[in-house]
Amino acid sequence: MSRLAGKVALITGAASGIGLATTRRLLDDGAMVVAGDIDEAGLAAISPKTSTDRLVTARCDVTQEIDVENLVSLAVSHFGGLDIAIANAGAGGYALLTEHPLGEWQRIIDLCLTGVFLTVKHSGAVMRDNGSIVTVASLNAIQPSRGMAAYCTAKAGVAMLSRVAAMELGPRGIRVNTVAPGLVQTNATGTFFAIPPIVEEFAENAPLGRYASPDEIASVIAFLASNDSSYMSASFVSIDGGGNTGRYPNLPAIFEQIGFQSPST
Ligand SMILES: NC(=O)c1ccc[n+]([C@@H]2O[C@H](COP(=O)([O-])OP(=O)(O)OC[C@H]3O[C@@H](n4cnc5c(N)ncnc54)[C@H](O)[C@@H]3O)[C@@H](O)[C@H]2O)c1
Repeated sequence: MSRLAGKVALITGAASGIGLATTRRLLDDGAMVVAGDIDEAGLAAISPKTSTDRLVTARCDVTQEIDVENLVSLAVSHFGGLDIAIANAGAGGYALLTEHPLGEWQRIIDLCLTGVFLTVKHSGAVMRDNGSIVTVASLNAIQPSRGMAAYCTAKAGVAMLSRVAAMELGPRGIRVNTVAPGLVQTNATGTFFAIPPIVEEFAENAPLGRYASPDEIASVIAFLASNDSSYMSASFVSIDGGGNTGRYPNLPAIFEQIGFQSPST
């Protein structure tokens, strides 16, 4: 399929998990892709396996405005413009509110919320008319989890930021939509997957009874990036096997059961 032929896409957090699967999917759909991440070795590993002149990679820390500006400039200088931006970089952490270190709170808000703000800001500034921005939030934007206050708050912020962006950029035909994955097996969720009760409790609470692969998230992101979703904007798209109908695994209870005090996720 080449529904993205001629389109220039930018993606953050592209070296692993959902970002990597999405980068590959955008390339498969015919797009030119500018892929940013702090993991330069991970970025370098994409290219040999994906032999194409439609991919360029660059180090980009989404918490640093200059890095995000440079990534956007690269799309313009290398491929002549920008049509699609995927604000994907993010990661969680675990701390109960009454013990939450301020620095950890600020780290997660910076990465998950401010990073998306900067990506939308600079992409939106140069994006060609009728472009598409997809932000990656989480089931935790609408479903609270004990021990994940910063992450839940940041992801809820991403959902609202995206709706404001949809209003401001809509007059140029630019659509802004949010995806909200449930549990996906990636490096970020390595701790969860090392603790079977967490995965089991997620599956019990999701009507489809299982977690997702990164490809199942990438295919929805690619749909939102393409004109197949041409009348969608300001949408919050859950990709969680129906997990939003249930409740999130009770992390403190599970950690106590197995004798963990404060793991990071
Ligand atoms: N895995 C899940 O269950 C799940 C569920 C809901 C939402 N998400 C969200 O999906 C997105 C991707 O997560 P993933 O599960 O693929 O994780 P991942 O760890 O596999 O990939 C995240 C990538 O982001 C990069 N990154 C980290 N900090 C960065 C920074 N400051 N600047 C640029 N890149 C940075 C990492 O190097 C990594 O390559 C995140 O926003 C995450 O919150 C994941």
